[in-house]
Amino acid sequence: MSTTTTLPRPEVLAGPPKLDPEALLRAQQETLDTPRMNYSLLAKMMFKPVDIMYGKQGSFTKFAMLEIIARVPYQAWERMGYWAVHRHRTRSTLARRVFDRIVEARADQDNEQFHLLIMEDLIDRQGLKRNWLLHRAAPWLIALFYYHVSWVLFLVRPDWSYRLNAEFEDHAEHEYMTFVAENPDLEFVPDPGTYAAEYGHYRSVADLLRQIGHDERVHKLDSVVNMREPRVRA
Ligand SMILES: [Fe+2]
Ligand SMILES: [Fe+2]
Repeated sequence: MSTTTTLPRPEVLAGPPKLDPEALLRAQQETLDTPRMNYSLLAKMMFKPVDIMYGKQGSFTKFAMLEIIARVPYQAWERMGYWAVHRHRTRSTLARRVFDRIVEARADQDNEQFHLLIMEDLIDRQGLKRNWLLHRAAPWLIALFYYHVSWVLFLVRPDWSYRLNAEFEDHAEHEYMTFVAENPDLEFVPDPGTYAAEYGHYRSVADLLRQIGHDERVHKLDSVVNMREPRVRA
């Protein structure tokens, strides 16, 4: 009879919690009652062109653009994390903490990826038109800028890199929750549930967007926590 030894494995994070309809409504109200963070110049350098190109008001195409760039800092941190693990490989406690951050960054990338897939699906269902310059080239350029800013900041001042992401997530949280408040008809549009198996199924598109907005808040709060623990750095 053969015996199998099971080794402990790093936990796969499930991502931010999924909320019920009442909790989603409460989350929206909390966001609307909370002032936005005081955005830095770097954050404004990304928000401003996005507002100019896609409009100040929220829209599915603007959200898709934001989701393309939202994944980028997590990608940068994952890459820098592997470098840091290698550098601290002889200090097991620190190496493990850095590795925990890598696992968190990967889970957040997956969560942002589903936000993007959901937005793309909503855009397709509405038959909204997109063009190459605004919806391919511009997101790629902004993502490239954000990626390099994220890893360079992480190298010199990890807390600044986390702060920048917290501002980006705060902006996204407010954009989603405000958009839902300004478009009450979304309460009556059923969630198509295209990614229900991975992301859950919601009562309406309004609730689906509230859930995404709440995810952004969780991402923001995680970055605020990481910002205060500067020892886990490259
Ligand atoms: Fe997102
Ligand atoms: Fe996010």
